[in-house]
Amino acid sequence: MDEQNKEIQRLQALKEIAELLNEATDLQTMLEKVLHTLLKEMKLQTGWVFFIDKNGEHRMLVDEKLPPALTLEEKKPMCEGSCWCINRFVDGRLHKATNIIECKRIEDAIEYEWGDTEHVTHHATIPLRAGEEQFGLLNVAAPHKTHFIEEELALLEAIAYQIGTTIQRIRLVEKERKYVVVAERNRLARDLHDSVKQLLFSIMLTARGTLDMTQDEELQHMLAYIGELSQEALNEMTLLIWQLRPEGLEKGLAEAIRNYAKLLSIDVCIQIEGVLSLTSELEEVVWRISQEALHNCKKHAKCEQVFIQLKRKDAFLSIQIEDNGIGFVKEKIRDSALGLKNMKERIELMNGTFCIHTELGKGTKLEMVVPTGKGEG
Ligand SMILES: Nc1ncnc2c1ncn2[C@@H]1O[C@H](COP(=O)(O)OP(=O)(O)O)[C@@H](O)[C@H]1O
Ligand SMILES: [Mg+2]
Repeated sequence: MDEQNKEIQRLQALKEIAELLNEATDLQTMLEKVLHTLLKEMKLQTGWVFFIDKNGEHRMLVDEKLPPALTLEEKKPMCEGSCWCINRFVDGRLHKATNIIECKRIEDAIEYEWGDTEHVTHHATIPLRAGEEQFGLLNVAAPHKTHFIEEELALLEAIAYQIGTTIQRIRLVEKERKYVVVAERNRLARDLHDSVKQLLFSIMLTARGTLDMTQDEELQHMLAYIGELSQEALNEMTLLIWQLRPEGLEKGLAEAIRNYAKLLSIDVCIQIEGVLSLTSELEEVVWRISQEALHNCKKHAKCEQVFIQLKRKDAFLSIQIEDNGIGFVKEKIRDSALGLKNMKERIELMNGTFCIHTELGKGTKLEMVVPTGKGEG
């Protein structure tokens, strides 16, 4: 009877978690909910999930009811240093749910008296993976619990496997979404190029052609004006299309920036130090920022020369964009201006820093530093 009860409980836990996983669309929320349900169903107290990247760097994505000793200083004990379970995961020696006899983090907490461990001394650790792909670890513990029996480990493993598959699914959907956005942009760029741009070109040619057919001066002025306007619209359109689909980005960032500067008739000097090989996300950020900066140089700086330096050092990329133009007063920028704000936002989203140095008559220099390493690959 007891055995039967246990089995029912096990199936109940699996069912509830399977339902949660099935509905999940957001990684963080999914992990929070699953961890909560798992602890409740298995009558455990605390748990946490580490994501571990290819360099062995770990990041705690979610945690529930960690004892005070492990949450001190914004969960510092969980974020720093290495431990047995992470090392084993990185070495490729952790294939299944395992009892961790000595948790280094808890041992340290006791040794250095970081606070109450609430009698949590041991934990089980279970790799999160799907097929060949490894994501990280699920760790769970309870007060006075020094050993997880085979059945508990088997259940944890079954759940962890489902979580792994869901992580993989969510990631694929995210990738797919990004791909759809790029495909849509490309389509729009192509359409604009083929239809609107060609039409504008025809208007411009027609206006110029008709100009020679009349002696009426007023009409000549009007036609010349139409010609100028359509030329302007054509230039704007070319830039727009470029923004949608950067030409030459596949040949490298420097090439794309050079081409764009040429389009704006700006003399640009690009200096690259270190091997760039950036993630496509960071490459896009650098590209968009360079684009806006070059635009500002053209529109505001009234300068002849722009100097761009991209320097990769260790896990950081530093970006400097300097012009010898008229400079500006930062306090006087109108609130509605978005260019510089967007740049700052883009950089900060990548955990980087953004700095403007400018002085009237002395030009402007944008300085940015961004980490190149991405959390999980
Ligand atoms: N390189 C630059 N040289 C001189 N002034 C600049 C430069 N970049 C930006 N500015 C000034 O900062 C303001 C805000 O720029 P930005 O946020 O890009 O908005 P926008 O270009 O739409 O005006 C500009 O209007 C301009 O006065
Ligand atoms: Mg601008």
